[in-house]
Amino acid sequence: MGSIFIDSTIADEERRTRLYAGDIFILSATAGTRALIGLARQMLEEAFAPHDPRKIHESKSAEDVAAILAKLKPQFIHHPECKKLIPQIMREHGVDVDKLYFDVPRLRSAYPSHFLSAGIAYAFHPHRDTWYSAPMCQLNWWIPIYPLDPNNAMGFYPRYFKEAVRNNSEIYNYYEWNARSRATAAQHVKIDTREQPKAQQELEPVTVRYLPPPGGIIIFSGAQLHETVPNTTQAARYSLDFRTVHYDDVMRRRGAPNLDSCCTGTTMRDYLRASDLAHLPEMAISLYDDDTARGERVLYFGDKLVSEAGR
Ligand SMILES: [Fe+2]
Repeated sequence: MGSIFIDSTIADEERRTRLYAGDIFILSATAGTRALIGLARQMLEEAFAPHDPRKIHESKSAEDVAAILAKLKPQFIHHPECKKLIPQIMREHGVDVDKLYFDVPRLRSAYPSHFLSAGIAYAFHPHRDTWYSAPMCQLNWWIPIYPLDPNNAMGFYPRYFKEAVRNNSEIYNYYEWNARSRATAAQHVKIDTREQPKAQQELEPVTVRYLPPPGGIIIFSGAQLHETVPNTTQAARYSLDFRTVHYDDVMRRRGAPNLDSCCTGTTMRDYLRASDLAHLPEMAISLYDDDTARGERVLYFGDKLVSEAGR
């Protein structure tokens, strides 16, 4: 079991070292995160008006909600304000924005489990992001938009940070996944049948759920085993998250230990520098390329079609 730091003021380098060792950081809301969740709330409330987005399952069908989310989520991801607010949040927490690269922020939804838990609102099974081609130095920043309940939050399995989990991540190649996402989106296929990396063993069903207030942040390593807790409440949960890598760690290949990830490809082309939205230099990306990085399959996905709920 790692340590949980609350509003720690330690330097970013030390914080990353601790995150790679399995510790978790909880940070209070700041002006930047309040602005970011304010934008998300405004967009949600406009999209679902005149209904409360947290109670939308009481007045609309699952199909209608899925259709609204299919428009809303990409609008949020590509909103120009997001690309300004994430660097602001980084600065607020002492991160050097000339060395910090981030992936576009995702808006997530988790509806009461009887309502909508597939496709665009997929309730994520226990996984590590590193089973989905994230580098071992990826950090996840997760922010609730409304107050959380233990039964509509995210669950962590701290035991497995230091313990390998038998899994089938070898089925996952990032470039093939993206190519199929594009095909699926083009066909307007509603049900996502793509097979995803999953644990291939029983897991000890003990999770820890952190409940920061709206605008607070949970920062954790992409190697943490985590899941969407099946929502047994009467309210929808909305959150947003984004992932970051730090240039120094990319170049030094520093990060969490890889206990069990066997996927191929890399998400390194997705991250944009916080100071000017530049991609990582090719020589940095090439450190993470494997022999699946060939020809047209290797694309930059900063503006990718994001029809899925994410990882
Ligand atoms: Fe994840």
